[in-house]
Amino acid sequence: MELRLALGLALLCSALQAAPAGPQRPRSAVGQFWHVSDLHLDPTYHITPDRTKVCSSSKGVNASNPGPFGDFLCDSPYQLILSAFEFMNDSKEQVSFMIWTGDSPPHVHVKELSTKLVISIIGNLSSTIRNFFPDLQVFPALGNHDYWPQDQLPVTTSEVYNAVADFWKPWLNDEAISTFRKGGFYTQLFESSNSHQPLRIISLNTNLYYSPNKETVNITDPANQFAWLEEILETSSQKKEKVYVIGHVPVGYLPYARNTTAIREYYNERLVKIFRKYSSVIAGQFFGHTHRDSIMVLLDEEEKPVNSLFVAPAVTPVKSVLQTESNNPGVRLYQYDIFDYSLLDLWQFYLDLRDANKKNESNWKLEYILTKTYGIEDLKPESLYEMAKQLSMPHSTLFEQYYSNYIVSYDKTIRCEEGCKTCQICAIQYLDYSSYTDCINQEAVWR
Ligand SMILES: *[C@@H]1O[C@H](CO)[C@@H](O)[C@H](O)[C@H]1NC(C)=O
Ligand SMILES: *[C@@H]1O[C@H](CO)[C@@H](O)[C@H](O)[C@H]1NC(C)=O
Ligand SMILES: *[C@@H]1O[C@H](CO)[C@@H](O)[C@H](O)[C@H]1NC(C)=O
Ligand SMILES: *[C@@H]1O[C@H](CO)[C@@H](O)[C@H](O)[C@H]1NC(C)=O
Ligand SMILES: *[C@@H]1O[C@H](CO)[C@@H](O)[C@H](O)[C@H]1NC(C)=O
Ligand SMILES: *[C@@H]1O[C@H](CO)[C@@H](O)[C@H](O)[C@H]1NC(C)=O
Ligand SMILES: [Zn+2]
Ligand SMILES: [Zn+2]
Repeated sequence: MELRLALGLALLCSALQAAPAGPQRPRSAVGQFWHVSDLHLDPTYHITPDRTKVCSSSKGVNASNPGPFGDFLCDSPYQLILSAFEFMNDSKEQVSFMIWTGDSPPHVHVKELSTKLVISIIGNLSSTIRNFFPDLQVFPALGNHDYWPQDQLPVTTSEVYNAVADFWKPWLNDEAISTFRKGGFYTQLFESSNSHQPLRIISLNTNLYYSPNKETVNITDPANQFAWLEEILETSSQKKEKVYVIGHVPVGYLPYARNTTAIREYYNERLVKIFRKYSSVIAGQFFGHTHRDSIMVLLDEEEKPVNSLFVAPAVTPVKSVLQTESNNPGVRLYQYDIFDYSLLDLWQFYLDLRDANKKNESNWKLEYILTKTYGIEDLKPESLYEMAKQLSMPHSTLFEQYYSNYIVSYDKTIRCEEGCKTCQICAIQYLDYSSYTDCINQEAVWR
């Protein structure tokens, strides 16, 4: 995310096997996949007595408590990224695939990067993932930092799209690669040996809709991605396929800023409309970018929950010096029903960065299991909606838990109340302008 922007807006608002409830499922009916996001490698990170020189991503500020696994004012040292993948590999979890939702380069001044450097960092992390998981299917998506200058992803082919397409050839088929070269997005079927129907992955380039992207100002359908998306979803619907949508910048409203969408409002309205129309085809949506852990449930016009959306926290722990909160590094595992790809659960893992630095040991561990923590049956839209209703109750202790998870256990003493809670609660349930505005305006009623 854009740290400076995030800060400005934050002021407005701040302050194994899951045991599914109900009938026991046979183990064979559950599939799993990993989700990693926002690795933000800072190749300059190194321990040195002058703390202003630990990492370029601290932008001249003293690193706070630098150790082998990083610092809350720095982007990821390579060792932190390695520790995340080592943990995933060592966990021996059986997964069918991995999704990787972008943002590889560090948050540094535009002059410290270049097209060449950005390409080389994306190449480095693509190889790193492949070295760890040579046989694993990975579905990546581009982030707003995966370009130079950052955020300015173009609507036609570019040097970056082409170079990245070459890195991702081991994972994507020819058709996907060809679409990707043109606009930075693709679709591909995932055929699993234990499922009777394939799963369609749609990897969107939502960076084209991101507010700071000047390349797409006044363009109604950048790179014709909307038309493409509708066509893919229409065909999927006719073929009775199931779809997972992945992307970097999420649809909907930012949970930490009042009345602010991450993408331009016009694009947001259009995406929400498409997702509502094809909600029966879409079994899940997965994003990154905010660096925080949050959920959204898409409601249709009758307030019926029709889609489950997840924003995964970052691996990078970076914050700007003026921000009060950050996130511990996180990676997550999803469980799905192999018959219809409906989402059953998610296991969030994290590294307690202070502890890891103190002990010089990367003790990644389980942070929470979603169904257990929130007392819901699965991750289907109806269940997430039930969860959202619980969270929105006044003085909800579950909401305190949600907020602690939102910042990946960064600081258990931080409270999110009043306006802060309003932003979170409205962003979870209301993704379009009109319903979100109603929610914000009614805050006095339900708080
Ligand atoms: C960094 O810390 C040193 C030692 O405490 C201090 O002298 C220096 O002014 C600090 N630099 C910045 C940019 O805050
Ligand atoms: C990636 O970059 C890191 C740190 O800059 C370096 O140590 C490592 O060897 C590189 N890995 C690959 C696969 O390029
Ligand atoms: C992943 O784990 C296996 C053991 O399960 C090990 O043999 C392999 O070296 C690990 N991969 C990496 C890249 O560390
Ligand atoms: C976008 O459209 C507005 C209104 O028509 C116009 O004022 C503005 O100059 C346009 N911007 C660009 C970058 O084309
Ligand atoms: C929300 O933002 C929109 C456009 O950015 C603005 O027109 C509207 O007045 C704002 N609504 C509230 C309740 O602040
Ligand atoms: C941290 O552990 C690594 C090996 O895991 C070792 O090489 C390194 O010297 C240790 N660093 C410190 C500061 O103890
Ligand atoms: Zn990011
Ligand atoms: Zn981002």
